[in-house]
Amino acid sequence: MSTPTTLTHLIDIASLHAGLIERLFACADYLRQQPGLPAGVAEQLRHVHAVNMFYENSTRTQLGFEVAARQLGLHISNLQSEQSSSVKGESLTDTFHTLVAMGYRLFNIRHPQVGSAQQLAALAPEGVHIINAGDGVHAHPTQALADAYTMRDHFGQVAGLKVVIAGDLRHSRVARSNIALLNLLDAAEIRLVAPPEMDLQPAPGHAAVRSYQHLEDALPGADVVMLLRIQMERMDELEIPDRETYLRQWGLTPERMRLAGADARIMHPGPLNRGLEIDGALADGAQSLILRQVQLGVFVRMAVMLTMLAPQQSWPQNHESC
Ligand code: CP
Repeated sequence: MSTPTTLTHLIDIASLHAGLIERLFACADYLRQQPGLPAGVAEQLRHVHAVNMFYENSTRTQLGFEVAARQLGLHISNLQSEQSSSVKGESLTDTFHTLVAMGYRLFNIRHPQVGSAQQLAALAPEGVHIINAGDGVHAHPTQALADAYTMRDHFGQVAGLKVVIAGDLRHSRVARSNIALLNLLDAAEIRLVAPPEMDLQPAPGHAAVRSYQHLEDALPGADVVMLLRIQMERMDELEIPDRETYLRQWGLTPERMRLAGADARIMHPGPLNRGLEIDGALADGAQSLILRQVQLGVFVRMAVMLTMLAPQQSWPQNHESC
């Protein structure tokens, strides 16, 4: 039985399957190689209006979607939430219905409330698509797809990789989406490391997940070391007096990175705190894939939007499709 390769909304990793993810990655490969889309596909996209609705700060996700949308030939708008009528009390759903009435068909939404993207997806009329760009601590699926695609680009495949994820797991939607995706793509080990106050409780029940008390124990044999941002406002929750002490006890230092070995690669979804969760020289060094994640994230976001707006069956026959 063939698996469906259509994508109406992207809310979290649980709503995806391995076949669809591989198709998205193949589409990103295609977009990196092709100078442009076939005329018939470009024509389908030419009149589509997309909007970034960001109710939390963002640099790479919001602007990554903007660049990706422009590359596809979409019209893209940015709702400035602080200048929008949400400040006057308009609800998220009323804003959504208003924008749908204007003709917007694709919504990239970031919102502090868990479930906000799902809420809009449930209300979306046919032909309107919702992409979750981060909802509270729940999910950030395009970041996880960008991260897995970067691993695939560097190592050839995600299956079999040993990936350390270290930092503030408890408050991280990126960690939750990455753990789910790495599990789906058959990573050999997902090694979780966090101070006790920032640990995931309960730890995800996937067979590949292992929890470690100390970064030193998780690093040997790792292929990827992914650091998460420590939210500065949460430092007070830790029994750690300052950032130097955090770096010394929990952060990625050159000495610790040597335990992983020269072939291991460093990742971070950003924004990063230099000298807190990661030594700045490592972030800029030869083992870092941090800017590659950003660069490839644009193609992954293009692939997601293109798959939603121009499904495979609408591509010209006898043309390599995305
Ligand atoms: N990784 C990530 O979501 O970064 P931004 O908050 O800058 O979008």
